[in-house]
Amino acid sequence: MLKLFGALVILGLALACITSWVLDSYDTAWHPKRSVQHPTVRDGDDSKGSSPPFPGGELNNIFWFIQVSDIHISRFHDPRRIPDFENFCTDTIEVIKPVLVLATGDLTDAKTESKVGSLQHEVEWQAYHNILKRSRVMERTRWIDIRGNHDAFNIISLDSVNNYYRKYSANQKVGSFHYVHKTPFGNYSFVCADATLTPGPKRPYNFFGILNQTQMDLLDTFRAESLKSNQSIWFGHYTTSTVVSPSPGVRDMMRSAVAYLCGHLHTLGGLMPVLHSRHPQGTLELELGDWMDNRRYRVLAFDHDLLSFSDLKFEQWPAVLITNPKDAQYLHPGVEPLARIRRSTHIRCLFQHLPLLRNIPSLQCGLLHHR
Ligand SMILES: *[C@@H]1O[C@H](CO)[C@@H](O)[C@H](O)[C@H]1NC(C)=O
Ligand SMILES: *[C@@H]1O[C@H](CO)[C@@H](O)[C@H](O)[C@H]1NC(C)=O
Ligand SMILES: *[C@@H]1O[C@H](CO)[C@@H](O)[C@H](O)[C@H]1NC(C)=O
Ligand SMILES: [Zn+2]
Repeated sequence: MLKLFGALVILGLALACITSWVLDSYDTAWHPKRSVQHPTVRDGDDSKGSSPPFPGGELNNIFWFIQVSDIHISRFHDPRRIPDFENFCTDTIEVIKPVLVLATGDLTDAKTESKVGSLQHEVEWQAYHNILKRSRVMERTRWIDIRGNHDAFNIISLDSVNNYYRKYSANQKVGSFHYVHKTPFGNYSFVCADATLTPGPKRPYNFFGILNQTQMDLLDTFRAESLKSNQSIWFGHYTTSTVVSPSPGVRDMMRSAVAYLCGHLHTLGGLMPVLHSRHPQGTLELELGDWMDNRRYRVLAFDHDLLSFSDLKFEQWPAVLITNPKDAQYLHPGVEPLARIRRSTHIRCLFQHLPLLRNIPSLQCGLLHHR
């Protein structure tokens, strides 16, 4: 008994250490002294954004997209999880009409019935795949799904028959990549940093992701390419606090991005409902709570190259996202043309009230004159 207690105390201490380390900098404040001046700041002074276009009374220079994470399709637990996710793919996507969706890993649960062990279940992958097919969501938006640690449990090699991600996901390709979303008003980079281990060990040995030097070099080419875009977003499954990478590290690698979107920590069992932080280089790190238990998703928009986002809950309406003026807590003076906010003439927002059954109006843009 005493031995068990001793073990529990040590486990508790270890957990406390890990938690304080993982949560190290969950603070989104902008620290001008701490934040190094950004190399891509073209104007190089405080006037970034002093040139047009300025946000006005027209629905222009804007697009929006969605992130969903840690879906954990499971054959054993929470029977509502699968049908709710199907409704999300049909109704929510139909209503919001995002140009793309980022599903940032742990698409399936891959656990044994007791929840202790891990195992890839083909039926879970088939359920995921069938939702994509039946909802025809891939015809209505660009669906970008990446691996999480659960999707790589117990996979000996990428060619293993149980590497179902290769067969049943939309993306199918493992490894990091760079996707450019092109619009008439600008190009926007989306860089995936895939730190998932291959071969994939059993539970719980892949709580941390790894990027080796070869993978970092590849990411550096994406970083350089992305400097041509108006703005860049990086995304991955792991928080940067749970990625092991060679110096100067993964945070430095993504320094030109306005934000890094990830999942993995869920809401830390309800302890941390919001895990938003800022890297020393200025990049926002926005962890999204899970679909699994909390049915979270996030709507993000670039409006005149200013990023805004809103963390929402499935089937909770209205869904509202104010894109101008954006939330002051999440300004990134290093890369965003913030002076445009002062020169704007309208308060701009995306909103959707309760969708009427079968007569679903899409997300609307609200424009209110403020001067
Ligand atoms: C995107 O970048 C191009 C080239 O720098 C610029 O002309 C355009 O105005 C930018 N788009 C927006 C919405 O600021
Ligand atoms: C977007 O990229 C294409 C090349 O892929 C380029 O021709 C175009 O001018 C770019 N658009 C803007 C607004 O920078
Ligand atoms: C880096 O990781 C990749 C993907 O896991 C692997 O294919 C490659 O061999 C590794 N390279 C080195 C130098 O370890
Ligand atoms: Zn997860």
